[in-house]
Amino acid sequence: MPRSVQPPRVLNIEDLRRAAKRRLPRVVFDYIDGGAEAELTLRANCRAFEAVTFRPRCAVATPACDLRTTVLGTPLSMPLILAPVGSSRLIYPRGEEVAARAAGVAGIAYALSTLSGCRLEDVAAASKGPVWYQLYLVGGRDCALSAIERAGVAGFSALVVTIDTAVAGMRERDFRNGVKELLSGKLGSMLPFVGQLLTKPRWLMSFLADGGLMKFPNVVIPGEGPMTYADVTTALGQSMVSWQDLGWIRKAWSGRIVIKGVHTGDDARRAVDAGADALVVSNHGGRQLDGVAPTLSMLPEVLVAVDDRIEVLLDGGVRRGSDIVKALCLGARAVLTGRAYAYGLGAAGEAGVARAVEILHADLVRTLKLLGCAAIAELDQSYIDVPADWPRE
Ligand SMILES: Cc1cc2nc3c(=O)[nH]c(=O)nc-3n(C[C@H](O)[C@H](O)[C@H](O)COP(=O)(O)O)c2cc1C
Repeated sequence: MPRSVQPPRVLNIEDLRRAAKRRLPRVVFDYIDGGAEAELTLRANCRAFEAVTFRPRCAVATPACDLRTTVLGTPLSMPLILAPVGSSRLIYPRGEEVAARAAGVAGIAYALSTLSGCRLEDVAAASKGPVWYQLYLVGGRDCALSAIERAGVAGFSALVVTIDTAVAGMRERDFRNGVKELLSGKLGSMLPFVGQLLTKPRWLMSFLADGGLMKFPNVVIPGEGPMTYADVTTALGQSMVSWQDLGWIRKAWSGRIVIKGVHTGDDARRAVDAGADALVVSNHGGRQLDGVAPTLSMLPEVLVAVDDRIEVLLDGGVRRGSDIVKALCLGARAVLTGRAYAYGLGAAGEAGVARAVEILHADLVRTLKLLGCAAIAELDQSYIDVPADWPRE
């Protein structure tokens, strides 16, 4: 493991975030780190975990802690899944394959974004663990159908349909850092913004050696080929998923379907009615509609609406294993994490992702022992106190 991510330099996810900031140009770091508009929801996601407090049972021996669980029938070594993070290949060479490999080694699942730089077949082959494919309808229905077919053949076990991206969120940091200009390919427009790339020569060399700005090999537009980077914002705006789309998606995909981006009890019920096998309470890590409530606070309302009919997962703001424990105490089956591992990827590639997972694993074991709880399957609301004003139905 490179020294840059070893203890004592890196003890927690915030340390990995700082290490990523050192290696990455500002435009790439802010792409990971930033959120939409005033970043209210981005911050609130993390704060919601602080608002939940523990009620430990002390003087209880827990010699071994069992972290194992199943999600959609698939065994996982702990209740953690790496969330879809688009363009991971900008963060690190062959970023999606690298992250999937680290997830497989750790015995957890990896969800691959439609908007990734590596071929989905290569990502599935890189991991020895379960892989899920996250679907956007960019490029249109035929394009999505061909990706769905490829994902089935490649061995992806679940399709994650993201429903919170009717348009791309307003990520102000991306505008200020010149993302649009850098993607324009026009030297005159790019010039004011290229300096930030030159200040990180190590990243720049590896980015160029990996082929430079990638296309999207899993978004193959009939008659045109892989979608280019410059087209992505427009394509997202033209390709929202509606509840009606779930019908043809269900027909085309024989595996499990996970609906990602549920904020309320009402949408949770619609997801169940649409035939989902699981849902993710998610606000896209505060990157889409700013001002929505933090996911953890919405979990009780969603659980009441779902009434045990499908599995409920959560993401947004998970930075410590204790956050995972809190989500599980509230009733989530498992959590997804985006930034926690993306910082690791940015800091040191596979070793950085492995370090992020190792940190969360160690946190989980320690937190369970300090709570006096022998297994994550035994976690429930009796181990926490929740703010009285959180929404419930
Ligand atoms: C850099 C970045 C890119 C993302 N790209 C996607 C994506 O392509 N598809 C998607 O459904 N979610 C995407 N997300 C959202 C994550 O899947 C996840 O919902 C979010 O990161 C959870 O919040 P957290 O970062 O606080 O863990 C992205 C998140 C980040 C940070």
